[in-house]
Amino acid sequence: MIIAANLKTNLTRKQTSKYVDEVERFLNANNISQEVLVFPAMSSLNPHAGKLTIGAQNAYPVLNGAYTGEIGLEHLEEFGIKTILIGHSERRHILGETQESITKKFDFYKNLGFRIVYCIGEPLEIRKAGEDELLKYLDTQYAGIDLNYENLVIAYEPVWAIGTGLTPTLNDIEVLHTKLKKKSKAPLLYGGSVKVTNAKDVLALKNVDGILVGSAALYAEHFCSMINYAQALNK
Ligand code: 13P
Repeated sequence: MIIAANLKTNLTRKQTSKYVDEVERFLNANNISQEVLVFPAMSSLNPHAGKLTIGAQNAYPVLNGAYTGEIGLEHLEEFGIKTILIGHSERRHILGETQESITKKFDFYKNLGFRIVYCIGEPLEIRKAGEDELLKYLDTQYAGIDLNYENLVIAYEPVWAIGTGLTPTLNDIEVLHTKLKKKSKAPLLYGGSVKVTNAKDVLALKNVDGILVGSAALYAEHFCSMINYAQALNK
């Protein structure tokens, strides 16, 4: 399974180093064989060799250039980073990324063989409009994306469940994941208010291949507990 921590705009470089060390120690001490990904803030990136993989939360689809506030491939290469999060709802809805710009980013990093964690998810009004509308909406987020890319991971994260403490029911997650799996065979993670208290149940669902965790993953101890659940299930 794939257990991923999106640290968002949290944890300084110093705090991130401590965090990564703590998780790495846990993985080694417990012989964890699951894939563990950590996405720190840009200024907290560091080269890392170990069991866990460090990924970038974002990067511009360019080697380098005049793109104020962005980083490019060159900056990722400096840290040996070959994993990237693309299409996160915060980048779509707060930072205004369009499907077109997301597709360009996807193609650029795909052509370089990056492991891409591609995020999709609907806002509440779409969820309320019913299943047909929901699937139609998610299809628009698949537009232009190579769903057969061999290094693709998809993360389904309903926007209304992110950082809210709300989640779809376990049955809703399973039903939707089963439908999404028909569109792509890529590992499919669930994200949105995953906590130590619900991670085990979510991970046990059919067609859930892992989790992408935000706030609850900020505590290394909590993140490690979730990794432990995944290890015990070992699907
Ligand atoms: P929370 O776990 O804080 O809801 O965030 C989920 C998320 O956005 C992970 O990418």
